[in-house]
Amino acid sequence: MNTQKSSLEFSHFPVMLREVIQILSPKNGGVFVDCTFGGGGYTKALLKFSKTKVIGIDRDPAVINLAKKIEIKFKNRFKFFNLKFSQLDKALKKNADVMIFDLGLSSIQLNNLKRGFSFKSKDRLDMTMGHSNTSAQEVVNNLGEKQLNYIIKILGEENDAKLIARNIVKARSEKKITRVDELVKIIEKSKKKIFPKKINPSTKTFQALRIFVNKEITELIEGIIKATKLLKPGGKILVVSFHSIEDRIVKFFFTSFSKNQTKSSRYFPEDHNLNTVLFERYKNKVIKASRKELFENNPSRSAKLRFATRSNNEFVYPKKLIQKFRKYLDIEASNA
Ligand SMILES: C[S@@+](CC[C@H](N)C(=O)[O-])C[C@H]1O[C@@H](n2cnc3c(N)ncnc32)[C@H](O)[C@@H]1O
Repeated sequence: MNTQKSSLEFSHFPVMLREVIQILSPKNGGVFVDCTFGGGGYTKALLKFSKTKVIGIDRDPAVINLAKKIEIKFKNRFKFFNLKFSQLDKALKKNADVMIFDLGLSSIQLNNLKRGFSFKSKDRLDMTMGHSNTSAQEVVNNLGEKQLNYIIKILGEENDAKLIARNIVKARSEKKITRVDELVKIIEKSKKKIFPKKINPSTKTFQALRIFVNKEITELIEGIIKATKLLKPGGKILVVSFHSIEDRIVKFFFTSFSKNQTKSSRYFPEDHNLNTVLFERYKNKVIKASRKELFENNPSRSAKLRFATRSNNEFVYPKKLIQKFRKYLDIEASNA
């Protein structure tokens, strides 16, 4: 057996690893669920503490080989499941001490130009993370102009969505859009403003398509709800998010279902009853990468870390979370 590691295995820099370890205290042991295994950065760091057991989850089949190697090395302490985090309950029978979500893409996925996530790619417009129903190519060629506009505007928060959608429909009437660089050209042509050098004009449209293709908002909401249900009282749920929609969801969830929820809650005062308290007091503190890390690892610039501690209260389904973010869930539901 070839036990040499490929260079890809080393190419993901785990975001805020030092902070994550500090918050989760793995030296005390426990069951840790790494819901976004990726390059295995967090998992490997947690397994260095002898009393930990780790369950790794990732929807991407491309990480299975790496996960298998870790399973062999840590036979009774690590198990991997190629599942989406909305399917967490298929991997876990007993309650966990910690649930970790490090959202978005790994650099392994981004740097593999064949996957179509990067603006630099000239390959097929794919953008599927694994266990996805549709590709970005199908989305840009098959959906109507109005729907494309809505997806790009809402999921990408892109001001020029209307023009981009119009130009996509125009371009595909002449020739099917199959490659990433073809889409990039259409977007660049559609952008009204001159863009600062640091931000690629395609960023927001790519974000929208990636979210839609992989139903990332539905996954996040279902994932954090299931994770909370599976957490032991006193257990921690930790989320690293990379864009504002994700962070709004996590902030709303931790704040609105925590013990500091008061009668004057501007979110839903009528729901002030103990049944909806899923977390201990939540400080609403966002942790960001240190200056040193920003220097070493550029993707960490947009990372926001939040964590909450599960209360002793029985789990009650947090319906208000679904209601609050219904708009996003409805858009993704059209990707059947
Ligand atoms: C930012 S990377 C995680 C990197 C990891 N923390 C590390 O240190 O190597 C995110 C990973 O989560 C996976 N992922 C994203 N959404 C997911 C979902 N809904 N279910 C399972 N895995 C998901 C992606 O495939 C990707 O591998």
